[in-house]
Amino acid sequence: MKVRAVSPANIAFIKFWGKADPKLNIPFNDSFSMNLSGCLTTTGVEFDGGLKEDEVVINGESAAGERKQRVVEFLDLVRKKAGITTRAMVESENNFPEAAGIASSASAFSALAMAGSRAAGLQLPTGELTRLARRGSGSACRSVVDGFGYWRKGNSDETSFAVQMADEKYWDLVDIVTVVAEERKKASSTEGHAAAESSPYFKTRLANLPHRITEMKKAFKEKEFGRFGELVEEEAVDLHMMAMTSRPPIWYWNAGTVQVINNLREWRSDGLLGFATMDAGASVHVICEKKDVEKLNRKLQELPSVKFTIINVAGKGTHEV
Ligand code: DP6
Repeated sequence: MKVRAVSPANIAFIKFWGKADPKLNIPFNDSFSMNLSGCLTTTGVEFDGGLKEDEVVINGESAAGERKQRVVEFLDLVRKKAGITTRAMVESENNFPEAAGIASSASAFSALAMAGSRAAGLQLPTGELTRLARRGSGSACRSVVDGFGYWRKGNSDETSFAVQMADEKYWDLVDIVTVVAEERKKASSTEGHAAAESSPYFKTRLANLPHRITEMKKAFKEKEFGRFGELVEEEAVDLHMMAMTSRPPIWYWNAGTVQVINNLREWRSDGLLGFATMDAGASVHVICEKKDVEKLNRKLQELPSVKFTIINVAGKGTHEV
């Protein structure tokens, strides 16, 4: 039986950075994100007794090396859960360009978790599906639920899973993914996680996080956008400060990143509210309310370092298609 699932990428408002258990992808802190309605991965999986090894096709190309290995190891987890040894055919497509610098591991592993487990005959409850997705890529667990996902860090495979904070209709927040020119090859988020603890600011951030999370939850509940955005930007700057001061230092920002952040600050002082957050890349996710999208998007596109933008509202989580 072939099963196809579609799943969104997500943008983290509170970030996952550093792994308490790298094998199980158990984080040091809770994290919180919004699904991106316009950045989707569709994955089909079929277990086939005639195959000698797993076949993995990503965006029309046969995958090999590390990229394939990561999928095969994930399928091994699914096989173990289902009590089978059959190999599988996996086909995966992203609807967003690789050049956008949006990490595809969250959408990819959440789609694979659903399509793979169902193709293997498993019907996992949501919590368990988020745990399975987490094993592929930590942030993938938050993409499983609709709208806004919250990952409770836990301290074991069983206790580290994602829940829904609110569905996609709760608040008309928008993420304008603002793609700036890439100047050099960036470090993967996996490398960043491994270096996180070496930053002198690692412990300081962890100590400050519970307060920031409480404040952010409050602003989210009250839909107080100005406060919410401030906290989102503060968290992103903290994370990147940690990356920049880890050993080895990792700089995801480039001149374009800084240009967008500076302009957002200026526009805010004129009453136009857009806040910056960045994941493991130079692109800036500009978080705003729906009423300001058109104006902000136009202004962003006028900046010399901006290549293109992708507009996202809060999206559905992983589902079968
Ligand atoms: C900066 O989930 O991509 O986007 O588990 O190694 O695949 P792996 O890491 P990943 O890390 C995400 C890092 C981040 C912040 C976030 O999404 O929470």
